[in-house]
Amino acid sequence: MSTHWIPLRPPPEELETSRWTPEVCPNAPQTNEKLPKPSQWAKDTFKFKPNKIQQTVLDAKSKRLILCCNRQWGKSTVIALKALHYAMEHPKSVIVVVSRTEKQGGELLARALDFASLLKIPKRRVPGYTHSILLPNEAKIYAISHSTQTAPSRTADVLIFDEAAVVSDAVFSVTLPFVARTGGAVWMLSTPRGQIGFFYNFWHDKDPQWTRIFSTVEDCPEIPKEFIELHRRGAPHLFRQEFYCEFTPALGSLISRDRLQSMFDPTLDARKLPPLPTRR
Ligand SMILES: Nc1ncnc2c1ncn2[C@@H]1O[C@H](COP(=O)(O)OP(=O)(O)OP(=O)(O)O)[C@@H](O)[C@H]1O
Ligand SMILES: [Mg+2]
Repeated sequence: MSTHWIPLRPPPEELETSRWTPEVCPNAPQTNEKLPKPSQWAKDTFKFKPNKIQQTVLDAKSKRLILCCNRQWGKSTVIALKALHYAMEHPKSVIVVVSRTEKQGGELLARALDFASLLKIPKRRVPGYTHSILLPNEAKIYAISHSTQTAPSRTADVLIFDEAAVVSDAVFSVTLPFVARTGGAVWMLSTPRGQIGFFYNFWHDKDPQWTRIFSTVEDCPEIPKEFIELHRRGAPHLFRQEFYCEFTPALGSLISRDRLQSMFDPTLDARKLPPLPTRR
């Protein structure tokens, strides 16, 4: 049996590798229904078997969730499932996906659509958003472009940063306020990309409100050792980043960020700003 979850109607080029295709769920649950916890729902409804760490991600209730996992770990698929589960349980909720490109966000949406179509949920888009799902309970999931221009005037209940390490700090900065007043959740998923940016900062931050999930290729027996070796030979400076999730300094850096930081005067740390004045 394939170790890969295959959508109902894979594109033709994927058909060759497909060895198993789940069937449309016979008693597809309606939206608004109280669902089992996400990992159970994934198994029972889609025959998608999450591994232990994926289960933890699916069932995590934390409003601040950050995944630092290797390439092809299943980040987008697992978060697509989690997002769909959330949307089905929360009528009128809004889930926004931010990525380096709208198309990449569209990949996550495509996974969610694959799962939704197995439930026979009618395919409806959020008006104005190419990569989107509008559920019968009026919950919306949509991907937005990587831009500081199109961001204002939105609110969200869940804000997802897919491949967060390549989303710019400027885009992060204009999109994070989507959850400022809703008390919404922030889920970030990525493979590291150097020692810079908000993903790097949150991962290394000691803030206890974040649930941090770390997983490397060691936890993915489906990715064969010979493949890793192939990657290592081709791009030895990158494979530790891609498959062992190391925040390696950019090629050509003379000094690592850790070393640089240790040379700074700690009183200059911008995060140690004076407290805000108390309101009367
Ligand atoms: N538990 C699982 N069971 C079967 N297949 C899985 C499982 N988890 C992930 N996969 C499969 O692994 C492949 C990679 O998944 P996905 O694209 O979500 O990973 P990713 O970490 O987002 O990858 P990338 O780093 O390229 O963005 C997909 O074909 C997906 O269906
Ligand atoms: Mg992905």
